[in-house]
Amino acid sequence: MSVLDIIKTRGSIRKYKDKPILKNDLLKILEAARLAQSAANRQPWQFIVVLDRKTKEKLMDVAHWPNSPPQSHVGQAAAVIICLGDPKACRPVGPFEGYLIDLPIAIENMALTAWELGVSSCWIGAYQEDKVKNLLGVPENLRVVSLFLLGYQDENPRPKVRKALEEIIHYEKYGQNNPE
Ligand SMILES: Cc1cc2nc3c(=O)[nH]c(=O)nc-3n(C[C@H](O)[C@H](O)[C@H](O)COP(=O)(O)O)c2cc1C
Repeated sequence: MSVLDIIKTRGSIRKYKDKPILKNDLLKILEAARLAQSAANRQPWQFIVVLDRKTKEKLMDVAHWPNSPPQSHVGQAAAVIICLGDPKACRPVGPFEGYLIDLPIAIENMALTAWELGVSSCWIGAYQEDKVKNLLGVPENLRVVSLFLLGYQDENPRPKVRKALEEIIHYEKYGQNNPE
């Protein structure tokens, strides 16, 4: 599959088979994170791989916004990757703390590599950071940037809904959507 084909076909999967992730698949996916680009090559990341069922269920209980129900797919996934950023280790990106830009690059590398291997994923942005940190003993100085689920799909991806190019691309200056 070409990179563009992987991008076109990948979809977030929220229902997984009860099947452990193959160690080889997991290592390739983690390697894709390790090789990601980052501002000034600071690599301000750490990842915790959670495979233990009970720990995944505890993570599920804290993977939701206040007053919303837990997301059951967190408990079902074969692996939950806790993606940690180090604010002190990164180089700023424009006005932003670089780890907030760098971590998602590593996460998307994992998502695309996983899809190529036949492993599905779902990015989880709804979680209570302090509870995740307590549960897994994450050092005070690190931030939880996302949880990332991996597993073998037990549903089809939803159809892709995306804005049209003309809605998001501008040529030469903002507001010119036509290249001529
Ligand atoms: C930063 C980020 C946070 C997300 N948080 C969640 C989440 O908490 N729960 C969930 O089920 N999906 C989550 N998603 C998945 C998105 O809903 C999904 O990527 C989007 O709807 C597009 O669908 P697709 O990935 O199937 O193309 C998140 C995705 C991103 C990039």
